[in-house]
Amino acid sequence: MDAAIPRGADRAPVWPQGFVGSITHTDRLVAAAVAPSGAYSGLGIDVESWMSDPAAEDVIPQIDFGHELTLLTRALPVSRARAATILFSAKEALYKALAPRAGRFFGFDEAALITVIPGADSSAATGSAELTLELQNDLCPTLPRGLRVGAQVAWDDQGVESLVVTPPEALTEGPVSPS
Ligand SMILES: CC(C)(COP(=O)(O)OP(=O)(O)OC[C@H]1O[C@@H](n2cnc3c(N)ncnc32)[C@H](O)[C@@H]1OP(=O)(O)O)[C@@H](O)C(=O)NCCC(=O)NCCS
Repeated sequence: MDAAIPRGADRAPVWPQGFVGSITHTDRLVAAAVAPSGAYSGLGIDVESWMSDPAAEDVIPQIDFGHELTLLTRALPVSRARAATILFSAKEALYKALAPRAGRFFGFDEAALITVIPGADSSAATGSAELTLELQNDLCPTLPRGLRVGAQVAWDDQGVESLVVTPPEALTEGPVSPS
């Protein structure tokens, strides 16, 4: 199927009817993911190169609103700057997955990291984890405060990749993990 993917007013890509998707780019790669909306109600991907220590310290007050960074550095064998990059990327993937349905901008303070499950054999150099993010506000009737959404993250020596998908059915409460 050939289709143009224009940019919407909110800068989000406008996928053909019946599809959800997401785009990300860094100086080292460009990636796009698309799926039928019968499979997922939302799909968000994000790739980030590792932040330097000073860049991470600048970003942390804008993305960490409690013990989120501490949760990550305790659970994963990564530095504070890398944990900040992971948190930033997971929240950006969440935004891309939910913003089209929310119909409004929502900030980094509107989702909180509540659990981190490290993947087997994760190290500072490479690894993966399953994060759970909890909405702190109602975004829309089907994305209520308290909703938990899974984010899969994977990292290597270059940076981190994040994926958030939400199931097609109306969401209520409880963890929502990618299958
Ligand atoms: C929109 C945003 C998430 C993009 O992320 P980024 O790391 O800056 O850039 P990436 O390269 O990963 O992604 C860029 C792509 O995001 C997509 N995008 C932009 N706005 C979007 C939106 N509202 N919804 C979904 N996707 C969007 C576009 O496809 C864009 O590609 P393009 O520039 O070629 O058109 C980011 O700029 C932003 O505004 N973040 C603040 C909102 C947020 O993250 N809240 C956290 C909630 S917990």
